[in-house]
Amino acid sequence: MPAIIVIGAQWGDEGKGKIVDLYAERAGAVVRYAGGPNAGHTLVVHGDKLVVRLLPSGVLRTETECLLGQGMVLDLATLREEIGALGQRGIPLAGRLFVSERAHLILPHHVLVDGLREAGAGKLGTTKRGVGPCYEDKAARRGMRLGDLRDPARARRVLETALAAWQPVVEAEGARLPAPEPVLAALAESWAELAPHVCDTSVRLDAFVQKDALVLCEGAQGTLLDLDHGTYPFVTSSSAVSGGACTGAGIGPTRIRRVLGVTKAYTTRVGDGPFPTELLGTAGDHLRQRGVEFGSVTGRPRRTGWLDLPGLRYARRVNGLDGLCVTKLDVLDDLEHVEVCVAYDTPSGRTADLPVDELALAKPVFARLPGWRTATSACRELSALPAAARAYLDFVARETELPIYCASVGPNRDETITLRDPYG
Ligand code: IMP
Repeated sequence: MPAIIVIGAQWGDEGKGKIVDLYAERAGAVVRYAGGPNAGHTLVVHGDKLVVRLLPSGVLRTETECLLGQGMVLDLATLREEIGALGQRGIPLAGRLFVSERAHLILPHHVLVDGLREAGAGKLGTTKRGVGPCYEDKAARRGMRLGDLRDPARARRVLETALAAWQPVVEAEGARLPAPEPVLAALAESWAELAPHVCDTSVRLDAFVQKDALVLCEGAQGTLLDLDHGTYPFVTSSSAVSGGACTGAGIGPTRIRRVLGVTKAYTTRVGDGPFPTELLGTAGDHLRQRGVEFGSVTGRPRRTGWLDLPGLRYARRVNGLDGLCVTKLDVLDDLEHVEVCVAYDTPSGRTADLPVDELALAKPVFARLPGWRTATSACRELSALPAAARAYLDFVARETELPIYCASVGPNRDETITLRDPYG
């Protein structure tokens, strides 16, 4: 059973990129299975920073195959830019980057509609990359798949059908749809470059599974942004939970060996929607500045707050988590006290689970733990951490009933304390 799924246990931006890059060292393949350029996964090796939106976070491991599964939505201009940026760094992708022919394409009308909606009263705070409207076309069975570009006449038909469906929506907003010809020309140009990378990625993945090689499935966004399990309607449009790896990458549930949830030592959220442990004012600003909590895709300041243990218990349940990777522990280094939400008071009583559909009415119950007021970034062993930081990690593990696999104390690959072998 060779696959390990790494997912976000909060509202995204947990630091999955760093963890996947770290664990990819021993993986035969890394596959992204959901979302698109709304994600921004940051990798830092020896101080050199790379942000990838579409490519899997295994790209820096040149022996590892990188796959983009059919659950993803792709903006081909962004994909080509990322391939180009890797090429400039001398990192080869030929023969090791494969993109599903079934992945759907984000087209200019998707970006237009996303932007129009975000300018209106019903805005959700999306990343405005066209992700939601693209998944809408997919569900309406009029979306364009990457493999459609093999046949220009087919691509034209699909585009014209989709544009006809969106026309009344766009015109009602007083806007105009993009003309099809330049869109088709740009797609043809992209196809000429990308065709060698396009295939049925589930077949490639199966080859790794058959030889018992390790496969890492890299989630995007986070559990609470999942279309089914998140704080609906303030969610993304894809399956961000572990189950999404099976459908989005094309790997059967019986092949999954372990599911790891990545959580910050506190919580952040970008975009609108409930966030009961949010810190407003100077305490929130402190976490934002110290944690550099600004969106890697949009640059938006992230909302910040205390760690939400009911949220992690919820993530444990819906993802079947086997353990946690705790990131950004060092961001809490200079606090006198650290607060943690341990339960919620709701109109129907106190609960240790996350009342996901009545979060607006739920009041968090906090526990206060001593801070450590000591720099942790140089720590590489659990025993090197200050006692209060160890107690904090112990508290999280005990309250969530999940073992901690690693604690990250800085953005660099090596600024990590390993507590358990992820492949063991
Ligand atoms: P969309 O995915 O662009 O449609 O945005 C829907 C919601 O998900 C918004 O609240 C976004 O801020 C949020 N979101 C989407 N992708 C990410 C991510 O990678 N990190 C954090 N939030 C995200």
